[in-house]
Amino acid sequence: MKLLILNGPNINLLGLREPAVYGNGTYADLLDSLALWAAELDVEITCYQSNHEGDLVDRIQKAYGQVDGIVFNPAAYTHTSIALLDALKAVAIPTVEVHISDVSAREDFRQISYVRAACLTTIAGKGFEGYREAMEYLKEHIG
Ligand code: DQA
Repeated sequence: MKLLILNGPNINLLGLREPAVYGNGTYADLLDSLALWAAELDVEITCYQSNHEGDLVDRIQKAYGQVDGIVFNPAAYTHTSIALLDALKAVAIPTVEVHISDVSAREDFRQISYVRAACLTTIAGKGFEGYREAMEYLKEHIG
């Protein structure tokens, strides 16, 4: 099984950005954990992060026919991007929305998720562990 682990803007600054909200782990730490969990779950992963909405759209389009599932933290674009929603709908790849923080307990503007309508489920507020849960969820629910 092949999974794309897709991260949006400012996720590359984990560790530096708001540690009280996102923790002290860096993006490199996240990549290390993802590699470990992929080996444990026997799934093949490709990781991609971009600060640019169009790059994320391109990466979702490129995933068509290439991966079985997507673990997606669209970061701030969660709350703004119809383009990402449309891209997910277009390729129809099973996708799990992940947020490191508990967005439901944060500002009003974080209560909207455009991508959620194209996702199987949402995992939020579980730190890096949420990515592992998303990988497990996809493994259980695909094929
Ligand atoms: C986030 C939550 C978003 O609201 C925020 O814009 C992010 C990260 C999270 O992982 O908790 O950049 O997606």
